[in-house]
Parts: sequence; structure tokens; C-alpha cells
Amino acid sequence: MAESRGELEALLAEHGQAHLLQFWNELTVDQRRELARDIGSVDFALLKRLYQRFRNDTGRERCGALEPPPAIRLSEECESARMRAVELGRQAIADGKVAMILVAGGQGTRLGFDRPKGLFPIGPLSRRTLFQVLVDRLRAIRRRHDAAVPLWILTSPATDEATRAYFRERDYLGLPPADVHFFCQGTMPAVDRANGRVLLADRHRIALSPNGHGGMLAALDECGGLEQAAERGIEYFFYGQVDNPLLPVCDPRMIGHHIEYASELTSLAVVKRHADERVGNFVQTDACVQIIEYIDFPEEAARRVDASGRLVFWAGSIAVHVMNRAFLQRAAARADALPFHFALKKTPFVNEQGERIEPDQPNSVKFERFIFDLLPLAERPLVVEVERDEAFAPVKNADGSPADTPAAARRMMIAQHRRWLEAAGARVADVPVEIHPLWADSAEEVAGRLGCETVVDEPTYFTDC
Ligand code: UTP
Repeated sequence: MAESRGELEALLAEHGQAHLLQFWNELTVDQRRELARDIGSVDFALLKRLYQRFRNDTGRERCGALEPPPAIRLSEECESARMRAVELGRQAIADGKVAMILVAGGQGTRLGFDRPKGLFPIGPLSRRTLFQVLVDRLRAIRRRHDAAVPLWILTSPATDEATRAYFRERDYLGLPPADVHFFCQGTMPAVDRANGRVLLADRHRIALSPNGHGGMLAALDECGGLEQAAERGIEYFFYGQVDNPLLPVCDPRMIGHHIEYASELTSLAVVKRHADERVGNFVQTDACVQIIEYIDFPEEAARRVDASGRLVFWAGSIAVHVMNRAFLQRAAARADALPFHFALKKTPFVNEQGERIEPDQPNSVKFERFIFDLLPLAERPLVVEVERDEAFAPVKNADGSPADTPAAARRMMIAQHRRWLEAAGARVADVPVEIHPLWADSAEEVAGRLGCETVVDEPTYFTDC
């Protein structure tokens, strides 16, 4: 790695980034070291190629002929097929073949919470954090199947330390420490959209940001996670995002369909609310199954309906996947497996005069990898439909925003728990309810817990803990 000023100058001059040393003479020894480390983390040749691609981008992708993807639809899934899938999934979990990946990196800018998203208190009554809610669901799965399901948590440089400390200080939220692994994703620099020059966040720091949830793949490989999983006999990774408190953790039905279909990558999907809903669309092209982001989705396809007036491209992504461990190992061996996407973002920076600028317009290009770009590489990809209300409550924006807020997610959690209670015969007044996953984690389990004639007429948190 280049360390002396001369070496750094030569490296940066070659890539047209000499301005990064502009404040060198004013820096302390430690600051120079930090700057050298930041510079050493950047692949400038790659950055140049990506910026050129951004400049040459002509807008929407051409998609070719589109069809809906192969899918298990709820309306077509008979009870026996469902039970078979659930049984297969349960067996795989009980046999110790399943692990979980929880992505909890990124920056969480939209939520406006100053700690890692996973520490956000989401429980409607309990105020348990997103991490607690999801880990408790995992504990419920482990207990029900009497099996170890190791957990790999993806962090980013912004969330890594606080996440590890949080788990350490709270006894790993009840999981055996040996079954909890943390791994940190890489970063990419933000570049000036006008000229491709890397932005300085400070006089001695490059403006680096996480490289997207697709950074999970390389990070899991580099931390030895894939190898470790192989040694433990893990065959399937259940993948979910920390900002979804309804995440159906290690859903046996989904895992079972994945196994039965001999898929390498299976994704959950919900029926889109309307043609323009801002979700990724699952499609089948001549070459592969893939997700096309709403912004790139051709309007004709988005609006296409069948004879009964239902959307042909019904399947919206909720970022829940099951992936074969061997498939991830194959993909990780290819440096270019996941392409970079670019986004225009507002990035605060230090200008040539050393002043900090807070732009009010997107001034930079950021580059990110997305995990769903694994789909085209997978053999026999499969989409499994799930009820939105049972599986997806994204926590993206601060309360007061139009959608995807904590308040909306809490309402969905309450509604799910109310449905489970009512299905078990309880009468529930118009009051908030919450169920701890170790008390019950499905309508069936609630039924096993309730006495007959149960009446819930005040806010109630069902828990043994
Ligand atoms: P989002 O795309 O919503 O990004 O992440 P974010 O960083 O949480 O929030 P914004 O966009 O800055 O407001 C979806 C999920 O993917 C994870 C997040 O932790 C979240 O669970 N993620 C996202 C990563 O792990 N790494 C990333 O680089 C981006």
C-alpha cells in the first residue's frame, strides 16, 4: 500500500485524483496516516470505469421480451403441497442445514436515527429493538426445531462497533455467542458528478459510504463465513433485512419450496398494490430471472393485465431470499458477479478552499451493489408468494413521512398479532397487542396458548420473559 507522500502522489496522479493530497501539509501525522489508509482502500481503476459508465448511461435499460417469473402462487398452492414444503423446510432446519444472514449495514439516513437501525425500538408495547424482535424469532425457530441456526450479521463501518457492543452487552440477546458472527461490508468513495473526482469528507478523510447490501457477498467470503458455514454443514442461507420487523425468519414453507424445486436462489414476493408501486419487479427475460427496479420498469409491462384484470407482473420484491451456500461460494469466486449501480446523492464535502459544503442538490455519484443481482446467476431461481401483511413492514423513513415509517410498521405488527389472537378465538377490543415470539410465533402457536373465551380489552403484551 502506498504510504509516503511520493507514492501517494504517483498513484493519484495516474488516476486524476491528485487533489486528495491538497491539504497534506496541514495534516498531523495521524491524519496523514488516516488519509493514506482511505486512499489505500480505493480501487481507482475500477472507480474510473464506473464513472465512465455513469457518463455514458443513456437512461432506462432495454429489457427485451418480459414474462412473469416461475412462481409458487398462494392461490394455486394446494394444502398438501404447502404441508410438504413446510415439512421439508422443517427437516432442513432440524438437520442443522440452515443459517441466517441479517443485513444491518448501510447508513440508515432516511430514518434519521443516530444509532444503527437494528437498535431502533420497534415493539409496539415492549419497545424491543428490531434486533431483539428478529433474534427472538430466530430463537423461537431454534427452540421449535431443537436446532442451532447460526446467524451472520452484516454491519457497515458506520454500524459495526455499536452493533457488536450492543450484542456483547446484552448477552447476545439470548443466542449462544458462538452462533453469532459479525462481518463488515466494504466501502466505495462518492465522486463529484461533474468530473468524477473523489470527494473529501474532511481534509484528511475521503467521503466513503457502504458499498450496498450486495457487498454482503464479498464480505462473507472474506471473513471466512462461507467456509465456516460449509464446515458446519450449512447448505442454505436464509437472507433478510434488519429493517423489517415482520421478517418471516427462516420460514420453513419458503425453505421447503426452495429445496423441492432444486432452486439455487428463492425469493419471497408480494402482490403489488398497483402498477406503479415503488418496489423491484420480478421478471423472466430470455436469458434469466431478474429484478427490475420500478424506476427502470417499462410502463407497458407495469400496466399489463391478464384476462381477469390482474397485473401480469404482480411480483414485488420484499428482499427476502434463500440461497444455497454452494451457489454463494461459486458467485463469490467471481469478482464481477454483482454489477455496481449508481445513484445521485447529496454528499457533504470539503471544497478546494477547505470549506465544508452541505449541498442542497445531488452533487455526487455513489456506487452500490445489490444482492438481488445474484438472481440471473442462479440455476432454477424461484419466486414464492407470501401475504404482505404477514411478511413485510419496512422501517425506512422517520415518523411523519408518507410511508414506511416506524408507526406504520407498529400498526402492522399489532394487526398481525391481533389476527393470530382472533384466529385462536380471542375477542380483542380496539387496543394494541403484542406477542413475544417465544410466547407464540404463529397463529397455530397462539391457538395452543389461549384458553377458551379469552377477552383482551386492554393493551396487552403476551410474554413469558
Ligand atoms: P436501505 O436500502 O433501506 O438502506 O437498506 P439504509 O442504509 O438502511 O437506509 P438509507 O437508504 O440510508 O435511508 C435495506 C437493508 O439493507 C441493509 C440495511 O441495513 C437494511 O437492512 N444495507 C443497506 C446494508 O446492509 N448495506 C448497505 O450498504 C445498504
